[in-house]
Amino acid sequence: MAGNPFVRLSRIFCHVWGEYSLFRLAYRGGSSEDMIIRKRAHHLTKILIHPDRYSQSLKQRLRGELADLLVANQGWKQRSWFQWAEDILTVYDGSTGQQGQHQESEIPSIGRPTTDPEKAVRQHSLVDIENLLELMRQRRSSRNFEKGGIISSQELHALVEAALHAPSACNRQPMYFLSVTDLALKTRLAQTCPGGSEFFADAACLLLVLVDASDYRYPENRYQPWLDTAAAIQNLLLAAQSMRLAVCWGDYPPAHAKNLKKKLRQDLGIDDKYLATACLAIGRVAAKPGPVPRVMPAERLFLNRMV
Ligand SMILES: Cc1cc2nc3c(=O)[nH]c(=O)nc-3n(C[C@H](O)[C@H](O)[C@H](O)COP(=O)(O)O)c2cc1C
Repeated sequence: MAGNPFVRLSRIFCHVWGEYSLFRLAYRGGSSEDMIIRKRAHHLTKILIHPDRYSQSLKQRLRGELADLLVANQGWKQRSWFQWAEDILTVYDGSTGQQGQHQESEIPSIGRPTTDPEKAVRQHSLVDIENLLELMRQRRSSRNFEKGGIISSQELHALVEAALHAPSACNRQPMYFLSVTDLALKTRLAQTCPGGSEFFADAACLLLVLVDASDYRYPENRYQPWLDTAAAIQNLLLAAQSMRLAVCWGDYPPAHAKNLKKKLRQDLGIDDKYLATACLAIGRVAAKPGPVPRVMPAERLFLNRMV
């Protein structure tokens, strides 16, 4: 089949189309200066932690660019990102000339603390590895949803909070989530997920995972939306497992970057700048999935050399 020239041609076409779609999305315009501010500040935090490992010229350039951007965008002062970048610059300026490293805990964090200080002190012992591994072992994709099941808004918030704690390149935190519960909309949305079109509409909600494509402006970033959201989705899946919810991941691969048709986008109120990378079917478990085989660490872990 792979040798079939038609199949090969259609694959090449899909690839070229996917690249072209991503290119168009990324260059849709719109200022992404807040992203540049976030990136510059993010790099300065690394310099604060390892001051000796960066060249003087890079430090000066980053510092200068960030300072200029902050001056030019004073109108954003209300944004937590802006405040954070300003705090980073203040700490950085206060430390210039000193060789001493900063500890990660001394670097200003954004907005409200993400964990309460009490917990932060104990953070390394919060979850026992055996419990965490057990949660990971138990996590399964569920494709059997209880009829009429409902996901409460508290549950949805907990799931999204778990997702938003995931790592993201340059700490972009690019994710947006749209929960679709309306039956007619769910049915139309389910049709956009090739691997779930038969059963996704049975789920209590379909959670669209989106990113602001203008956060990924450069060609080398074109696959990062999928990397960033995959990390977030895995967090969400684990949280869902601990809450005994049924979830199945449906992805929109890069070649289908323009997956959501105009009319559906309009009906869901999704601006063109958002790129959907996945659609998660979430519901109550109707039947527990059976076991799946897993490869063992000994089969996949190598030390120093692979062969
Ligand atoms: C990127 C990605 C896309 C997936 N897409 C689908 C899908 O479209 N339909 C589906 O039924 N399962 C989908 N899955 C779930 C996988 O089939 C499932 O994770 C795999 O079979 C292992 O089973 P488990 O999740 O129960 O451990 C997807 C998983 C990933 C990571």
